[in-house]
Amino acid sequence: MPYEHVVEIRKKNLSAALSTYYNKPLLLHQGHMQWLFDHEGRRYLDLFAGIVTVGVGHCHPKVKEAVKKQLNHLWHTTNIYFHSPLHEYAEKLASRLPGELKVLYLTNSGSEANDLAMFMARICTNNYDIISLRSGYHGSSPYTLGATSISAYKPGVANGSGCHTTMCPDVFRGIWGGSHCRDSPVQTTRTCSCSPDSCEAKDKYIDQLKDTLDTSAAKRIAAFIAEPIMGVGGVIQFPKGFLKDAYQMVRERGGLCIADEVQTGFGRTGSHFWGFQTHDVMPDIVTLAKGIGNGFPMAAVVTTEEIATSFVRALHFNTFGGNPMACAAASAVLDVIEEDGLQDNCRTVGTHLLLELSKLRDKFEIVGDVRGKGLMIGIEMVTDKETQRPLPTEEMNFIWEDCKDHGVLLGKGGLYNNVSCFFFVFFFNLS
Ligand SMILES: Cc1ncc(COP(=O)(O)O)c(C=O)c1O
Repeated sequence: MPYEHVVEIRKKNLSAALSTYYNKPLLLHQGHMQWLFDHEGRRYLDLFAGIVTVGVGHCHPKVKEAVKKQLNHLWHTTNIYFHSPLHEYAEKLASRLPGELKVLYLTNSGSEANDLAMFMARICTNNYDIISLRSGYHGSSPYTLGATSISAYKPGVANGSGCHTTMCPDVFRGIWGGSHCRDSPVQTTRTCSCSPDSCEAKDKYIDQLKDTLDTSAAKRIAAFIAEPIMGVGGVIQFPKGFLKDAYQMVRERGGLCIADEVQTGFGRTGSHFWGFQTHDVMPDIVTLAKGIGNGFPMAAVVTTEEIATSFVRALHFNTFGGNPMACAAASAVLDVIEEDGLQDNCRTVGTHLLLELSKLRDKFEIVGDVRGKGLMIGIEMVTDKETQRPLPTEEMNFIWEDCKDHGVLLGKGGLYNNVSCFFFVFFFNLS
């Protein structure tokens, strides 16, 4: 289709609320593993992976074969019937989750998964209040918008009642942070006098959570939802021990702990298969999406049998959840992660990349911070290291367009709505 025709259709028949990347948005034609090709055959290294989604590579041959095979057998039935792909996948995914996290609900998107997790927590605890972290993103549905805490996504109409936010424990840009707070090969350039086994910044941010619980929420709460590393918020890593203390405090108030693994799951952080494991915590509910199906519309909520049993009083139904083709794709994704050694690849390549990128921080005034774990990496751009003011949009965009013109696709995130922070996240076998 000629580029001009696509532009015309976009204007006439698609919503103006859909934002696009780049001055002249790319018209993509084909993908192969870490590569994307535009309508003129130009090749790009895709370091954004369809917004942190195409974890094992575009059109990975094994995933493609699994979907093709399923396409010949059965496309759709709904989960009111038994069919093998759903049950095979349920068993396989559950075997990858630790402890009591063994009961699955399959949904269509991360927002729907978080909707369900929040609803489940309310039903099971008989409490209403949900706490999330400022700068976090958990979806754009009316329900999850309450937990999402980035104003650009808040349309200014009633949404997500009963949700309260607490201070984001951002050790780079936040009020508190030191020289060994985060679980990353690269620390901030801040200094502190904490001993290796203590973190004053963590204690201060936990005090903020206590304050939120004491002042904004009911005595008994339904849940606390947080990502192990904040993705859309700008690859923000919390001080070590923060989630552990937060989970304890939430449980003392009757709340369930929800780990939003939509970006951090499936080995991306390298050292562990799930992001919550890097914090040494055990959530009550885990939500998964994006990389789960390598681009197939699919997501999941995983919880314990106890919680699932108390949730049965609310009938759960959706038409497409557990679709046979999505389950076949997701099942092949799990195999590929294992067979191609992708978790280990995330660890080795990610660590190498983080250490090399940190040299750019030493060299360039506008590189404020380099952070992340495995292949979930962020570079926060600033005007200068002293003020740490976010790099203005025009300058960010200039760099970002330039990268694209050099054939590299990156993502942008951060609280300053695509201004201060750009992060690239990828998951391909680049070794
Ligand atoms: C951490 C996190 N949770 C939830 C969502 C919502 O997922 P979806 O866009 O599939 O609804 C996103 C999407 O970016 C996300 O990054």
